[in-house]
Amino acid sequence: MRDDPHSGPSPLTRRAFLRTTGGTAAAAVIAGYSTPGQSASPADSADGPHIEGAVPLTLRINGTDRPLRVDPRTTLLDCLRETVALTGTKKGCDHGQCGACTVHVNGRRVNACLSLAVMHEGDEITTIEGLGTPDALHPMQAAFVAYDGYQCGYCTSGQIMSGVALLKEPCGPDDAAVKELMSGNICRCGAYANIVAAIQKVRTST
Ligand code: FES
Repeated sequence: MRDDPHSGPSPLTRRAFLRTTGGTAAAAVIAGYSTPGQSASPADSADGPHIEGAVPLTLRINGTDRPLRVDPRTTLLDCLRETVALTGTKKGCDHGQCGACTVHVNGRRVNACLSLAVMHEGDEITTIEGLGTPDALHPMQAAFVAYDGYQCGYCTSGQIMSGVALLKEPCGPDDAAVKELMSGNICRCGAYANIVAAIQKVRTST
């Protein structure tokens, strides 16, 4: 089998490929995670692994400065989830079409999958983890619970982040206006009526 010229690529070739692959793989390595067959050296765990082309970056996330080293091609979404390990922000389509990755940047909603982490030095980034706590829910989080604004929960953090941002945006008073401004957030379970009810509850009580 090992002499078969038609067998798969050698382990060395595969490693070389992984070393030159950016995006998620690079972010995972930056986060200190080992890919199968690899282990972090003591030097890696002390100073971070050497990532060719990585740049130093400090992101302010949920009120805390996070000094990082990231591949400049890393999206804000991958940086949040895999480098900083804030996994409340979800990856759905990774193409700006579903809204699952919605976070706030300087108070405005942004699809984190469409933005590079290096673009956000100095910005105030808020994720669902920075909105409320289990003991002190943000009013929008509490309304989603009260109105069953979630089913499987996968899109919920993005829906809530969008709903909170919507409170500061020009929006008409009726449900149709809310649906229009929430149209970038897809719920595959179809809990739209409950999501709109939750948002309207917060809008009329604040
Ligand atoms: S994961 Fe970003 S919009 Fe779908």
